Amino acid sequence: MGFPEVRPRRLRRTPAMRRLVAETHVQPSNLILPMFVKEGLTEPRPISSLPGVVQHSRESLRKAAAEAVAEGVGGIMLFGVPATRDETGSGGIDPEGILNVAVRDVVAEVGDATVVMADLCLDEFTSHGHCGVLAADGSVDNDATLRQYELMALAQAEAGAHVLGPSGMMDGQVGVVRRALDKAGFTDVSLLAYAVKYASAFFGPFREAVESALVGDRKSYQQDPANLREALREVALDVEEGADMVMVKPALPYLDVLARVAEMVDVPVAAYQVSGEYAMVEAAAANGWLDREKVILETLTSIRRAGGQLILTYWAAEAARLLRRI
Ligand code: PBG
Repeated sequence: MGFPEVRPRRLRRTPAMRRLVAETHVQPSNLILPMFVKEGLTEPRPISSLPGVVQHSRESLRKAAAEAVAEGVGGIMLFGVPATRDETGSGGIDPEGILNVAVRDVVAEVGDATVVMADLCLDEFTSHGHCGVLAADGSVDNDATLRQYELMALAQAEAGAHVLGPSGMMDGQVGVVRRALDKAGFTDVSLLAYAVKYASAFFGPFREAVESALVGDRKSYQQDPANLREALREVALDVEEGADMVMVKPALPYLDVLARVAEMVDVPVAAYQVSGEYAMVEAAAANGWLDREKVILETLTSIRRAGGQLILTYWAAEAARLLRRI
């Protein structure tokens, strides 16, 4: 020890001192709760690979949304699970489709008190489970999909969503949706672009949550986990096309990407702590192998430290409560 007088531990000595010098704080208002609603349910239904998360009925969704807002969450991201699907995902466009109906319900219930967001993607609504429509050869047709996204965006805006989250990773999706919204007079509706979305195995439990019909993978449109530079390019394009906020997804395995994105742009940066990240912690905690609450808060702090200003997490409502306690 050349310099015994330099003692970083001085600043870790008491809880008060540690609180004083903490560099990162997670606020309930940073947290966005993703919620699932399924057409035709009368009671909420548990999702086995996401213990504690449910597919809501329309009624239980309204109630749970109000509870989450009372806990102080900053926003809600809605996903719809339709009763029937077709080749083009028309249930996402139909004003009476489950997601659009749910947006109206939640906006009516808590619309003035929170930010209501809708996932803008076809995968829940297509019979093949892909995020877009298919060409004759079975590949995902980028530009035909953009036409559907425009219509879906208009339906979601009409339903009252404050923020749309284009998440299908089609080229040009942000620009096309922005133009369609503006042309129809929805200039106040914001876009949270899933700018960086990896073809991740961490989405596994989500596929159960939305009863995905997907066979195969999404590697022709979602990104290769090996690539960082490509992620920065996606972000630059989305900001240029008019994204109001950008997202990196998943979160914890991609904190390096998140940190670079946060350095690069001047719009708010979100991170999606996805279903597999949630499931890993819940499974370990259920075995008594991890201290569940401490791990939840540690992951959120780490995502925030890396530059995620907003965090989508299935723990949003509970974490908001935990954060008020400390
Ligand atoms: C696509 C979408 C997915 C997720 C959010 N939006 C699934 C996918 O791309 O396969 C995954 C979220 C999660 O795993 O929690 N609509």
